Amino acid sequence: MANLIVIGSQWGDEGKGKIVDILSRDADVVVRFQGGSNAGHTVVNRKGTYIFHLIPSGILSRGKLCILGGGVVIDPGALIGELDQLQAQGIKVGRNFMISQRAHVIMPYHKAIDKAAEKAKGSRRIGTTGKGIGPAYVDKMARIGIRMGDLLNPDVFRDKVEDNLVEINNFLRHVYKARGFTPDRIVEEYMKYADRLRSHVADDSLLLHKATENGRHVLFEGAQGTHLDVDLGTYPFVTSSSSCAGGACTGTGIGPTKIDAVLGVTKAYSTRVGSGPFPTELSDAVGEGLQERGQEIGATTGRARRCGWLDAVVLRYAVRVNGCTSLAVTKLDVLDGSRQLKIAVGYRHKGKLYRDMPADLQVLSECEPVYEVMPGWTGSTTAVTSYKDLPQEAKRYLSRIEELTACPIDIVSTGSHREHTIMLKNPMTAIRPRIRIPKVSA
Ligand code: GDP
Ligand code: IMO
Ligand code: MG
Repeated sequence: MANLIVIGSQWGDEGKGKIVDILSRDADVVVRFQGGSNAGHTVVNRKGTYIFHLIPSGILSRGKLCILGGGVVIDPGALIGELDQLQAQGIKVGRNFMISQRAHVIMPYHKAIDKAAEKAKGSRRIGTTGKGIGPAYVDKMARIGIRMGDLLNPDVFRDKVEDNLVEINNFLRHVYKARGFTPDRIVEEYMKYADRLRSHVADDSLLLHKATENGRHVLFEGAQGTHLDVDLGTYPFVTSSSSCAGGACTGTGIGPTKIDAVLGVTKAYSTRVGSGPFPTELSDAVGEGLQERGQEIGATTGRARRCGWLDAVVLRYAVRVNGCTSLAVTKLDVLDGSRQLKIAVGYRHKGKLYRDMPADLQVLSECEPVYEVMPGWTGSTTAVTSYKDLPQEAKRYLSRIEELTACPIDIVSTGSHREHTIMLKNPMTAIRPRIRIPKVSA
């Protein structure tokens, strides 16, 4: 068994929630390491549909410890709403759910700044989820953030809120002509949250260290995707966290040597929500068809997702920067009935051919994809659970993805339901146990 990181290989919404739900069965601990309630991870099983924004998707598997790591930014009101929703759906959440003391708290002013900044940007807006993610990470980096540990200490919390509001109210009122906040109201509201969440707050790094020392297996649930990573994504049209595999270490306090494998999740085509370059975007009936068949509506904001052909340049980059050891390809069924399929294998820009993702956003936004055309299939992949039952052309499509990315496919998903999955190789169990250095007593 392995300590495995699951990340999105594109621009988010690749189906990470479904894959993590399946792999959770073979994990002991499931941990989110970055992002916040901007995420929307959907899991469908016999009992119903669950959409997780903060709580790890592993919560549906019994007996797993679920953790929100220190790299996550937490909107306590949203988290409590999610906990209540889960309880209403019959999912027990108690000591199996922990939150890092180090995780930063999203404050009401973060959401206000997020919305006001987007409005002020006009046509240059990022198209954020409006959940206060960017401003919360700005405060973290500016070293004025408030952490979960601070939330539990009323005096520290009040002092920090009062200090921060001097500058932030000024900024909101004078720069954005928006309303400011009063410390008393925030403190009153957040102290109620503190009471509710207190028993869940712990040291995530220590919990994970003890778990791995005892041979437990950890599944790291990425949110967003490689191309939304603040360092490695299509900056500035990104989120504000480290959504690539590297973020799993800094976002939980576990060392890179403890990681055994990285699974990149990709759709069989591409989607993106919000603004920013998207070379294979289809603004025609084919794109509309993908949007409709794939039900490509954002789980967090309800916005229609932009759709396009699969982009091997995007995937190759994801395999490289995350060190992916294998891939999970989701939503293959959405391509059923397409007469022909296209995969971008390179980009052309001003006569120059790019095989690799250009780092320059200006170049990327002007690139024309170079396509390879493949035949579609007339048979159905929907709900198929065995590779041998896939149409020949679907097998060829999958093999081509492996060739173009130089990365093997471990999992193919053929429907939103848990059972609609082809498990070629389980990345949680396929890895040989790491050699453990015997403990020497002092
Ligand atoms: P995440 O953010 O990466 O977890 O992905 P989302 O949950 O936001 O979006 C993926 C959507 O596709 C969800 O509605 C899933 O239920 C659905 N889904 C996942 N895998 C498949 C699949 O193989 N086929 C189909 N048709 N839907 C899928
Ligand atoms: P999951 O985990 C898809 C996008 C937003 C916007 C940009 C910045 O479900 O894959 P933010 O609110 O984070 O500052 O917005 O990032 N975005 C996502 N797109 N899936 C997500 O999460 C996303 N989380 C943020 O649409 O373009
Ligand atoms: Mg999503």
